[in-house]
Amino acid sequence: MKALWRNMEQDRERAVISWSPFMISLVLLMSIPMVFVLIPRIPPPKTLPGIPNIDETDDLALFRRATLASDEGGEGDGLRRRPASVPKIAFLFLTNSDLTFAPLWERFFHGHERLFNVYVHADPASRLLLPPTQSFRGRFIPAKSTQRASPTLISAARRLLAAALIDDPANAFFAVLSQHCIPIHSFRFTYRALLADPGARPSLTSGRRRRRSYIEILSGEPGLQDRYVARGEDVMMPEVPFDKFRVGSQFFVLARRHAVMVVRDRRLWKKFKMPCLKSMVDSCYPEEHYFPTLLEMRDPEGCTRYTLTRVNWTDSVGGHPHTYRPPEISGNMIKNLRTSNSTYSYLFARKFSPDCLDPLIKLADSVIFRD
Ligand SMILES: *[C@@H]1O[C@H](CO)[C@@H](O)[C@H](O)[C@H]1NC(C)=O
Ligand SMILES: *[C@@H]1O[C@H](CO)[C@@H](O)[C@H](O)[C@H]1NC(C)=O
Repeated sequence: MKALWRNMEQDRERAVISWSPFMISLVLLMSIPMVFVLIPRIPPPKTLPGIPNIDETDDLALFRRATLASDEGGEGDGLRRRPASVPKIAFLFLTNSDLTFAPLWERFFHGHERLFNVYVHADPASRLLLPPTQSFRGRFIPAKSTQRASPTLISAARRLLAAALIDDPANAFFAVLSQHCIPIHSFRFTYRALLADPGARPSLTSGRRRRRSYIEILSGEPGLQDRYVARGEDVMMPEVPFDKFRVGSQFFVLARRHAVMVVRDRRLWKKFKMPCLKSMVDSCYPEEHYFPTLLEMRDPEGCTRYTLTRVNWTDSVGGHPHTYRPPEISGNMIKNLRTSNSTYSYLFARKFSPDCLDPLIKLADSVIFRD
């Protein structure tokens, strides 16, 4: 072995000696560009994924169209065009997998075709194996990639709002849902509950009742400070001071004027679209902050401050709520899910594993859609 090493070293010496000074300077010269290629790659990125520029450009064009196309949807605060028909509910589904509960939603929608529209944003990387059922067919909007711990989920929800604003001036309420959400009341009950909000106050200018948004808006929650600095110290200023920073479920129902407010916003979005620092990944939930913070700053009186989508955070793991499994499904369980501590009833619930479809369908007529 030793002999072999020595031979190799001798070969190398000979090789160096035989190189002419010209060759050495040529090699040195050629390696200069390599330094420039390599150096910028050395420090790893400090941030999590943000919004690709191309997506941002497309979105801006869409949001401009939505802002132009939309009026106040009969909210009573403008002299603009009235909606053409009775108020409708836009059901906005954000998904990255099959809409397993579509058959349950079909039962819910059946017979109310004049009163709702469906819109779906399906992550382009998702493999949807189930063919869309009647109400979902042709209702998929142009979608872009979404990821947890990034502002892409905010963009996806804004895209759904914009598409629904443009599509039908009669859309009066915009309910954001996911593939894991289910209805827990009949359509008739849901529609009446949304439209007959006893807390809605008359507008000062027209005297007509201004519809409220059903969106959770919380302050003083543990961990809020960490979530505020998830993009870096002081970066949210001056647009979003900490005392205006709020948290709430990303599953909400917006009144039309608030949907317009969201797609029109540039000022807060400039801050919320910034990617989180890698070191703050555990505090990075932009979609739980953007909407409640925006509405708190622009129209706090116009919001209920609670969500209508029930979720169970008992024993949550890694930011995921409890996922219900078939043995848990029963009539009593549905009734429990509806109960809130207030005067309202929950209308939707999450999160359910796909195999809950059969037990839920069995309860559809006897319990869920009975009212
Ligand atoms: C919430 O989830 C826990 C398990 O994590 C379960 O024991 C409890 O029954 C659930 N609560 C409701 C109201 O479904
Ligand atoms: C109602 O309040 C009780 C006590 O504060 C709490 O344990 C329970 O989780 C609340 N239920 C709902 C549906 O918010």
